Amino acid sequence: MRVLGIESSCDDTGVAVYDDTEGLLAHRLASQVEVHKPYGGVVPELAARDHIRKLMPLVKAVLDEADCGLDRLDGVAYTAGPGLTGALLVGAMAGRSIAWARDIAAIGIHHMEGHLLSPMLDQDDLQFPFLALLVSGGHTMIVDVVAPGEYRILGRSLDDAVGEAFDKTAKLLGLGYPGGPAIAKAAEAGVPERFRYPRPMTDRPGLDFSFSGLKTSVATSVSDVELNPQVIADVALAFQQAAVDTLVIKCRRAFDLSGRQTLVVAGGVGANNLLRQRLKELTDQHGWRVAFPRHEFCTDNGAMIAYAGCLRLLDGQRSDSALDVVARWSLEDLPPIGANASAATAVD
Ligand code: KG4
Ligand code: ZN
Repeated sequence: MRVLGIESSCDDTGVAVYDDTEGLLAHRLASQVEVHKPYGGVVPELAARDHIRKLMPLVKAVLDEADCGLDRLDGVAYTAGPGLTGALLVGAMAGRSIAWARDIAAIGIHHMEGHLLSPMLDQDDLQFPFLALLVSGGHTMIVDVVAPGEYRILGRSLDDAVGEAFDKTAKLLGLGYPGGPAIAKAAEAGVPERFRYPRPMTDRPGLDFSFSGLKTSVATSVSDVELNPQVIADVALAFQQAAVDTLVIKCRRAFDLSGRQTLVVAGGVGANNLLRQRLKELTDQHGWRVAFPRHEFCTDNGAMIAYAGCLRLLDGQRSDSALDVVARWSLEDLPPIGANASAATAVD
């Protein structure tokens, strides 16, 4: 089964070709960072227009790189939600049109399922069940991945996502967009303990998160301070420390509560080196395992959509409605993936 994957839920256009026997044949990403930079955040209408411009040239480039004509594809998978409706529609329409023209199967994929399964692209020894920490610009959740397609949300952010907190804090500090990498970079020059921020909701039981208070604490702490480069670095360091500590405390709690032995980290914030290092230390200490997708698969990409699509298409699932994008969609509402899915193994 050879599947073209299309991701266009937010501000990255991602395209890939995944083959269940040969693995990932090609993948490319067109970032919209420059488009949204002047606005300090993603502008939905501009995102949709840029996907329109970039998508088909990217599909052509990826097919060329994979040395795969349209006639060699068995199916098309596109992100059907959650995300920005206009942006989602671009990928869905392109994907469904290609599938219709070639008379092959099409399937709409849940963006977060793509992230959840993305470590499988590299780590073919990963066994279900496992825990997943999903940390992106729009979501923060800890999920019990019982089996492919069977997801239980154990905890989630009640307000801002952790990536959003990175982005808003960076904006406050004048570090620009996207905030995560900018904060991480600025933190390298920071002096520890000059600022200290709370670890929200870690003093009460449960696995939910809240990050909007953390962002407010940062705003309050710098309200009467001159923002010179050293102060910015010190704040970035303290913020990153607080955000990462909070995530690590909840992950530890999730291991204890669930009895699972493996944690998979996915989503853009999974690219954060401090988070990676701290989770590695935690899991090494307890004999648990943590798996990270490679950096390029942590952020939005087409490979994860092609992979998840391949699993579902192999299972005989299809999306038959005309256009099925959904801005809001719970992971827990997905149909399970049957026994046939295990035939799709990961190859580097
Ligand atoms: O998963 P993703 O690419 O897109 C969404 O679906 O949201 O995640 C983007 C988020 C942004 O908030 C960005 O600031 C954050 O991931 N991010 C990081 C890092 N790289 C990206 N956050 C912290 N540290 C990083 N190195
Ligand atoms: Zn994402």
